[in-house]
Amino acid sequence: PERLRVALLGCGAVGAGVLTYLHSRPDLFEVNPVLVRRPAKYGEPGRYTAQLTEALAGKPDLVVELLGGADHPAELMLAALHDGAQVVTANKAAVAKHYDSLHACAEAGGGAIRYSAAVGGGAPILETLARLEGDVVAVEGVMNGTCNYLLSRLAEGWTFDDAVRQAQELGYAEADPAADVDSHDAADKLSVLIREAFGVALLPDRIAKESLRDVTPEAAQAALARGEVLKQVGRCRLLEDGSIAAEVRVVALPAAHPLAGARNEENRFLVTDTSGKVHEVFGKGAGRWPTATAVFADVMDAQRALLGRVAQAATPTQAAPLKLLA
Ligand code: HSE
Repeated sequence: PERLRVALLGCGAVGAGVLTYLHSRPDLFEVNPVLVRRPAKYGEPGRYTAQLTEALAGKPDLVVELLGGADHPAELMLAALHDGAQVVTANKAAVAKHYDSLHACAEAGGGAIRYSAAVGGGAPILETLARLEGDVVAVEGVMNGTCNYLLSRLAEGWTFDDAVRQAQELGYAEADPAADVDSHDAADKLSVLIREAFGVALLPDRIAKESLRDVTPEAAQAALARGEVLKQVGRCRLLEDGSIAAEVRVVALPAAHPLAGARNEENRFLVTDTSGKVHEVFGKGAGRWPTATAVFADVMDAQRALLGRVAQAATPTQAAPLKLLA
């Protein structure tokens, strides 16, 4: 079958993982030179470029956007969608801020935008909200791996700066970790969750948020001594008048609380539906491979959509009976 032309914009922690996946399927994908700031850093001439025109050469079928920022990447995605391309992104800031125009442009251009990695990384929170189809009254969660990691290290007596540096090395932190530490990243994610859960536009800058900069190792250790754990928690709830209450706070949770057990890059979400049932969604939310795997799942969905293929359920054949170990 025909190979799809793919433009990859950005090659940081996640982009490099996605590129590995794309190269693992040369039968499906022909990858344009990857857009990066400094191609010389990568040392493979021709495979990387700082020129947008080269990255987008030949009218790509699929554009994978993994740049930082919100407005510039959104402009690039809008242009691609306008041309009818399929777009995949993990950029929560761009999706949160430009949600309406991205969706409208996808519909008008006949393409589609997918961003299942933008919230929760490998934890299927957006998929869960889609399955619940608006039957949701509240969502709360630990949705930033960097802050999660940082608060755990503070409780062990690390300094704030050492913990941030280590989160960067582990590939959890944003290019500018202030986005994590000052809770902008969690507010972007919460804004996207509110759209998907309630269909309501609440922009990230209108969500009350608390920075982690004021949390001291002493405070984290004191919580631990009380049998509690400090967590950055994003919460949103549908109120009776149809409005939404939302905030990102650092809270002390009892150690037995389901959100308190989220370790390192793990994200955890609790979704309450209209019947009062609480759905738990856990998974790895940050770092190269959990995020790149979720991005590549979207890429494969886009590939199937482009080829108009419907996944056929495998017909069971005469399978050999399972051998049970004695
Ligand atoms: N910086 C983000 C985090 C990456 O630490 O959770 C995943 O969105």
